[in-house]
Amino acid sequence: MALHMVLLLLWVCRLHSVVDQDYRGTISRFPEVREGKCVFPFHYKKGTFYDCVKFNARHEWCSLNKTYEGYWKYCSKEDFAKCMFPFWYRRIIYHECTEDGESFGKKWCSLTQNYNKDKIWKYCD
Ligand SMILES: *[C@@H]1O[C@H](CO)[C@@H](O)[C@H](O)[C@H]1NC(C)=O
Repeated sequence: MALHMVLLLLWVCRLHSVVDQDYRGTISRFPEVREGKCVFPFHYKKGTFYDCVKFNARHEWCSLNKTYEGYWKYCSKEDFAKCMFPFWYRRIIYHECTEDGESFGKKWCSLTQNYNKDKIWKYCD
């Protein structure tokens, strides 16, 4: 019985460390691929991302595959997500950045064609 408990504990611990590793894992386990284009949106762990992301790294990066599989690159200025035009916000179709709905009058745009549904956006430069 005691041995069973020890084995069970060992198994639980191992399971935990595998899970922890998965969540703490950094992208730099794999080398950066310098060629290639960011694929947006991409799926990484449990999330879906429409622009370069910063977590697990010291600089924004993106996946080169629709589902992250170890191919990634650091984002340069050209790699960040571009506005998607035209996009639909409330009842209007926008062909350029807009201040509508932004409390401070800063221009923004949608990163997908349907802001109403996806609510993915960024500020315009
Ligand atoms: C993922 O992207 C890399 C780099 O562009 C490419 O070499 C690889 O073939 C891609 N994987 C798949 C399954 O398409």
